[in-house]
Amino acid sequence: MKKIAVIGHPVSHSLSPFIHNAWIEEYRLNAKYDAVDIAPENLKTQIRSMIADGYVGFNVTIPHKIAVMDICDTIDESAKNIGAVNLIAVSRQGKIQGFNTDGFGFIANIKTQKPSFDFSSGAALIIGAGGATRAIIDGLMQQNIPEIYVTNRTRSKVADIAKTYNINIVDWEQRHRAVKNAALLVNATSLGMVGQPPLEIDLSRLSANALVCDIVYKPLMTDLLLAAAAQGNGIVTGLGMLLHQARPSFKKWFGVLPDISDKLRMEIEQKAAQ
Ligand code: ATR
Repeated sequence: MKKIAVIGHPVSHSLSPFIHNAWIEEYRLNAKYDAVDIAPENLKTQIRSMIADGYVGFNVTIPHKIAVMDICDTIDESAKNIGAVNLIAVSRQGKIQGFNTDGFGFIANIKTQKPSFDFSSGAALIIGAGGATRAIIDGLMQQNIPEIYVTNRTRSKVADIAKTYNINIVDWEQRHRAVKNAALLVNATSLGMVGQPPLEIDLSRLSANALVCDIVYKPLMTDLLLAAAAQGNGIVTGLGMLLHQARPSFKKWFGVLPDISDKLRMEIEQKAAQ
């Protein structure tokens, strides 16, 4: 039996076990996927003892995505640039290989919800410079997006990202104006999430063809998406990013890229809303 786990702290909220166990069942695999809470100070020792105990793969979630890079024997190019690992595969020789699938999840979610969207049609404006932004940039660059603009309350975080990626920095106060040039507008902050302040952004200059994405998925229809839809813009909800980022993990461990059935998507939507 193949043993795999999502590791985090806390980890009980993670939807990954549900997603992967649904696929394990669908493909009738002899495997189990569980959630293991590891305190930061025990990260290295506990991963090594789990590997000794037969674990061959991990998903890595908050707060371990950066620290786990230290114990990886290899890290792929995207994960290096993003500066975080969310997928580990242990080779037959025992090598710990790190990857990041968040950029894939972001792009695949757009391609699924808006297949007609042309990534080469214009610039992206990303709001926020936290954990998700680097992965989104990495994914967009692989789609040959012509230009990326990033705005964030704390400017130094965008400046830091600009050391790795060729992006344009937009002052936080200028974000309402910058909307004008965007073919793709992305909220990559936690603003608009249940319990968080709203995202203040004026969409009146947004081009009628622009697509608006939110990585917030609780609520699924955020105020940003409601406002964009009300003025006729295309929208992409955030939960699909979570579902799609799981697919390359499953492929790495089991050799098959699973699909997201309507049933699975609806079940996850229900769980995420709880
Ligand atoms: P982290 O930055 O620790 O990785 P995150 O949850 O991935 O955390 O990112 C949070 C994002 O939401 C950041 O871009 C953050 O902006 P700052 O870098 O200025 O903190 C943004 N964010 C959260 N609350 C915000 C608020 N009240 N106003 C503006 N931006 C906010």
